[in-house]
Amino acid sequence: MSENIYVVNHPLVAHNLTVLRDKNSDTEKFNQALKRISYALFFEGTKFLPTVEKQVSTPICDTKSPVINPEIEIIVSPILRAGLVFSDVAQELLPFCHIHHLGMYRNEETLEPIWYYNKMKGKLKDPLKTFVFILDPMLATGNSGYDAVHNFIKQQIPEENMIFISLISAPEGIEKLTKAYPKLKIITSKIDEKLNDKGYIVPGLGDAGDRIFNTVY
Ligand code: URA
Repeated sequence: MSENIYVVNHPLVAHNLTVLRDKNSDTEKFNQALKRISYALFFEGTKFLPTVEKQVSTPICDTKSPVINPEIEIIVSPILRAGLVFSDVAQELLPFCHIHHLGMYRNEETLEPIWYYNKMKGKLKDPLKTFVFILDPMLATGNSGYDAVHNFIKQQIPEENMIFISLISAPEGIEKLTKAYPKLKIITSKIDEKLNDKGYIVPGLGDAGDRIFNTVY
């Protein structure tokens, strides 16, 4: 496996993932469990952010202590709609980030993404000093992830500054992204067995968007 895949192995993550897999977990339980895992994924994903030393005075003495380098810009990019579920935690942990929504839905026959939203207001200060977190709870075929990364590469942001945050990943999606973007970092809580013929992750948790937003009537 590529050295840029980081699986967050932790008993609390595993426990909450079981809640998510259980088809009897209702929306409230589902979203609570997902939020708990989101913190673990974000702490893992943000470990790549550069820091600089800052002079501070504690009640005891003066010292130097690290802060996130103020010269970088951070874009958090949820792939709509399921990626939105990570946005609150992302904004809480990275209050200075820019949120850039990427609207894509998948053609259920071809499993290819169809874009419907991608608006960037303004310009990046320096693409080389920009870090991007792409959010999608289910890394399945990798088709939408592929497009999302490509979108930022077109803006001259280095591949190694991009971090893909997913809850569950399929081997097929990981292979697609790592082949195309070997320097992309992928953070996930579990790599599942495979995709089924409808492009769903097995065993997975079903349709993440439907379960997050309670859209199964
Ligand atoms: N999207 C989902 O919501 N679930 C899957 O299993 C695959 C893609």
